[in-house]
Amino acid sequence: MILVALAVGFTARTALALDAAPRERLLLDFGWRFHLGNDWGAGYGLAKAGTAFGPGVPSYSDASWRKVDLPHDWVIELPFDPKADASHGFKPVGEGYPQNSTGWYRRTFDLPAADAGKRLWLEFDGVYRDATVIVNGWFVAHHEGGYNGFRCDITDVANCGGRNVVSVKVDASQAEGWFYEGAGIYRHVWLVKTSPLSIAPDGTFVFSAFKDNVPKGPAEVHVQTRLLNSGTPSDATVTWEIMGPDGATLAKLTQDVHGPTGPAFALLEQKAIVDSPKLWSPESPSLYRLVTTIWSAGAAVDRVETTFGIRTVGFDADKGFLLNGEPYTLKGTSNHQDHAGVGSALPDGVQYYRIARLKEMGCNAYRTAHNPPTVELLDACDRLGMIVMDENRQLGSDARHVAFLEEQIMRDRNHPSVGIWSLGNEEFDVQGTQAGKRVVTSMQEVVRRLDTTRPITCNAAVGDEYPGINEAIEVRGWSYHVGKDMDAYHAKHPLQPNVGSEQGSTVSTRGIYANDPVRGYVSAYDDNAPEWAQTAETWVTFFAPRPWLSGGFVWTGFDYRGEPTPYDWPCINSHFGIMDTCGFPKDNFWYYQAWWTDAPVLHLLPHWNWAGREGQEIDVRALSNCDEVELFLNGRSLGRQTMNRYSEIKWKVAYAPGTLSAIGYKSGKVVAETKVDTTGAPAAVELHPYGSGIEADGEAVAVFKVSVADAQGRIVPTAGNSISFDLDGPGRIIGVGNGDPSCHEPDTFITASSSRGIAVGGWRWKKLADPYPENMAEEGATFDDASWEAIDVSGDSGALGLRERAIYRTRFTVDGKDLGADAVELAFGKIAGGIAVYVNGHKVAGTVDGHSAPVFDVKALLHAGENVVAVAVASYGRDATGMSKGAEIRFQDAAPAAHWGRSAFNGLAEVIVQSTKTPGTITLTAHSEGLQSVSFQLASRPAASRPSVP
Ligand code: GAL
Repeated sequence: MILVALAVGFTARTALALDAAPRERLLLDFGWRFHLGNDWGAGYGLAKAGTAFGPGVPSYSDASWRKVDLPHDWVIELPFDPKADASHGFKPVGEGYPQNSTGWYRRTFDLPAADAGKRLWLEFDGVYRDATVIVNGWFVAHHEGGYNGFRCDITDVANCGGRNVVSVKVDASQAEGWFYEGAGIYRHVWLVKTSPLSIAPDGTFVFSAFKDNVPKGPAEVHVQTRLLNSGTPSDATVTWEIMGPDGATLAKLTQDVHGPTGPAFALLEQKAIVDSPKLWSPESPSLYRLVTTIWSAGAAVDRVETTFGIRTVGFDADKGFLLNGEPYTLKGTSNHQDHAGVGSALPDGVQYYRIARLKEMGCNAYRTAHNPPTVELLDACDRLGMIVMDENRQLGSDARHVAFLEEQIMRDRNHPSVGIWSLGNEEFDVQGTQAGKRVVTSMQEVVRRLDTTRPITCNAAVGDEYPGINEAIEVRGWSYHVGKDMDAYHAKHPLQPNVGSEQGSTVSTRGIYANDPVRGYVSAYDDNAPEWAQTAETWVTFFAPRPWLSGGFVWTGFDYRGEPTPYDWPCINSHFGIMDTCGFPKDNFWYYQAWWTDAPVLHLLPHWNWAGREGQEIDVRALSNCDEVELFLNGRSLGRQTMNRYSEIKWKVAYAPGTLSAIGYKSGKVVAETKVDTTGAPAAVELHPYGSGIEADGEAVAVFKVSVADAQGRIVPTAGNSISFDLDGPGRIIGVGNGDPSCHEPDTFITASSSRGIAVGGWRWKKLADPYPENMAEEGATFDDASWEAIDVSGDSGALGLRERAIYRTRFTVDGKDLGADAVELAFGKIAGGIAVYVNGHKVAGTVDGHSAPVFDVKALLHAGENVVAVAVASYGRDATGMSKGAEIRFQDAAPAAHWGRSAFNGLAEVIVQSTKTPGTITLTAHSEGLQSVSFQLASRPAASRPSVP
């Protein structure tokens, strides 16, 4: 029972001196090792605690595994395979491809002795999927969901003052979705250290409330804090400090807590008043900060800073979505999480790049289809201004699904960008059932228990149908069905709000103006949509006069891998995007920009490179929000036409090379001009980074647009030249792309390392009463074993009998060149029983895996010349044990540097460059045969890296 004494103060004071509190949140992204495949089954045993197999065993060598930094998606590295699943982008993973579907990651780090007594957590933001986490040989977590984060408390199994090994088995055999999902530890990992009395994980909730949910006058800012005490009960004081967008302290709250103790969480609740709040909106994303501190015995023992916004969201059945009490049209896109070059493992900077591109288009809302997003996506939306429909992956009210939903809500509910929760997407089988209704009712209760401030919807692919999920859901989500179904439904259910949760969608390919089923391209005119969907003009025109529909979320903002609708192979990605997989606009980008923004927009399509089609009619269109547009070919007017709202203007123009130009008028005045030139042949490669410079923090990225230009610097809209890239300086290329939905070139270039193995034979053995004692002469380097019996250990089973004990010894020779290899490993086929391995008299630390082939990193233990290995084995089972299946010494050289390249698609390609932690100038050079090459010097500015695990 917790007794609470309140002492609440609302005084405006200066910021607390942020004195050190023991919480550390260290990024654990760098320095992992990765192995694709699994020879070790579950990776751990159930019979005894601390029994791991293969890479789960701390002494197992990962020296020959590939070095990777997180986030990492191994599927992007696999080649395309026409036999693989189209919906997942023809990558050989999942069903039918067991060899590519499981991978292991390992990371070794030291913890200082001073960490003893702290609570230690590993936090995984997202692993696709089915992750098993083993720490120092102990099983610590199994987590299935590929889109939810999870935490492991490793306090008890951690070695403070010593070495720690984290092994993660990732099994992507089973798909969760019907779109590209990637595989691996594709989001950040953190090591979190707290004092025993701490703010619980996701233990802070801050939200604002106003009378009638309309933000007039002061805001009531509510804070909730969960405490966790795993130490002795102690009195504590919790303080909360609220800082405004300018950093000034606006309120301070204090609460004394007597003897909070775990494992139960103590939930504290407080309220502050913030006068004249600066409301958060996509147009003005003002952010506040809450600093929560626990004080005990006069010292700060924990502190967490939470960014939040003051705003209200809601729905009205007639007015639609409300932001800060006012009707607000959602100009949204739905998106999957993958991007060109990096698959699902997006560096944070790519999230910002994508959100910024959507904002350029006039977009104000983002649906995280069909799963909870990476936190950094929400950070980008908080900061740049974007309302998020935050979607759950799997519908269900069983314990596992409720746990996933709770994790999502508790993790995301402080983000002002999150405006709507979505419980799911198109649940065809259960949508119309009473069980579906009951499940959704229970799930809404879960959400409301954790957050009463946001409305809840579910994307429903049914028309005017009410029974089932639609009966229960707070806001009816519409997946397509533009037309009479919507009006009929609204008339029958006038009190239920609605949202166009999935709308559109035109299928199109950037820079293509005729459908081409053979190559897998769809024209970029706003003409083609699947039978269940509509073009941009159709849905926008229908929604515009119906505010009760709240606006909608186009399927999709960006192309994504998989779902190559309307085609199949050779297409490997979707055509739904308003932008391609790189974020290069297709023509519809300007359609939405025209009707979603107020500044004059005028865009002409197609390009004007139609050599060979002279005199033939070309379908020319203007996308614009001007009242009228006049078109010219080589200066000659082809007529001035009136633009109908939410539409486009069309001309048929007999092709002649030159310049197609247009002038846009508003109220009779010229407000916009544009032109499209017939270009010359490709002459040069150009590089344009999005943004200027990057931070030398090892994480920042520069997204480069690579273009092929003619001699006058105009992008050649049909160019497909192969381009290769070189990088000098403190940076690295992490991915390339070009937006071509049928391109099978690699997005990443991974070079294989070369390895060789030498059999280690010549074993002799001797049975001994007890090989267990340390420092037996027989285990040493200098022992003379010449009189011992020779033993062949290459057979399938060992020769050691029941309850026998023996030492095996051999010698092998290596030279200096061998030892210069990147990895030098001693691998045994199998050693079963109680085992100790000695190399030149040094005992290999830790337990040895008697279940699968043990491998040891012996580089530091060997010397040029003759080396001695001794293996002490005790058999305690019924079966013949000891050494079997041979042994070898393996040398692996470092992988040669990869050579990156990519063809342009319709004039463009993309290269993503990441900084290292060293500042300096990164020089990216692009070459293409016959074209002038280009070098771009990118400044990598000195910057503090995020605190990370060394
Ligand atoms: C929808 C579905 C999306 C995507 C889209 C393709 O029905 O929700 O995930 O598959 O169709 O048109």
